[in-house]
Amino acid sequence: MDAVKQRPIGVFDSGVGGLTNVRALMERLPMENIVYFGDTARVPYGVKSRATIEAFTAQIVGFLLQNEVKALVVACNTIAAVAGQRVRQMAGNMPVLDVISAGSRAALAATRNNSIGVIATNTTVNSNAYARAIHEANPQARVYSQACPLFVPLVEEGWLDHEVTRLTAREYLKPVLAEGVDTLVLGCTHYPLLKPLIQREAPHLHLVDSALTTAEAVAQALQAQDLLNDAPGVCGADYRFYVSDIPLRFQTIGERFLGRTLNQIEMVSLG
Ligand code: DGL
Repeated sequence: MDAVKQRPIGVFDSGVGGLTNVRALMERLPMENIVYFGDTARVPYGVKSRATIEAFTAQIVGFLLQNEVKALVVACNTIAAVAGQRVRQMAGNMPVLDVISAGSRAALAATRNNSIGVIATNTTVNSNAYARAIHEANPQARVYSQACPLFVPLVEEGWLDHEVTRLTAREYLKPVLAEGVDTLVLGCTHYPLLKPLIQREAPHLHLVDSALTTAEAVAQALQAQDLLNDAPGVCGADYRFYVSDIPLRFQTIGERFLGRTLNQIEMVSLG
């Protein structure tokens, strides 16, 4: 059993954005080893079809299972929205945590007027996955979803506090605010980086950062299954980062998401 506890947690995303989840996991569970896979060659997923995303996801999960992970974290909202089922089928009895389940629970716990806004990619919004997860737990809740496709490139450009981003956010938030929501789920890996800007635009909203809530869900699941690593290596936890491409500025953008230096990056080809 102890050998299993020392296995890494497998975290994956369509690209670099899932590093916000790795960052939250490093802070919440500093003894845990982590293997990350980001499909940087094929990002973005947020505009792709369900069939394509499912096929890519199966390749990623296969790779992480070969790396003997003890749990899987679906850091990408778009993958969780359309391929969550596929991940769970492949994982068998292994714990699988995803940003949509964790974010939906956190939103329901936070809302006072039962009206929740969700901002996400086109594919996530079209899948209705957040609304389904929220309604499963509380059929009375009202969910209003808004796709914000321009946010991903703006964040990758580093325009986290830029006039263009502010105007874009104002435009996207207008219909959401008109619905009277009191809670807003940041339903995409990239949006937590826009938290200060969004909060300034809508100071009364409770913002749900799915990276933080997912890290908490991982901690609880590992604890419940007696899988927490209680014997880390002498050098501390081990972090490995695999990507399918190392594009220009990868290091800079990656470090923005991770909040620290990004080492041990290796390129692997899955297709
Ligand atoms: N990781 C994706 C998500 O959380 C955003 C980037 C993409 O479209 O692939 O939905």
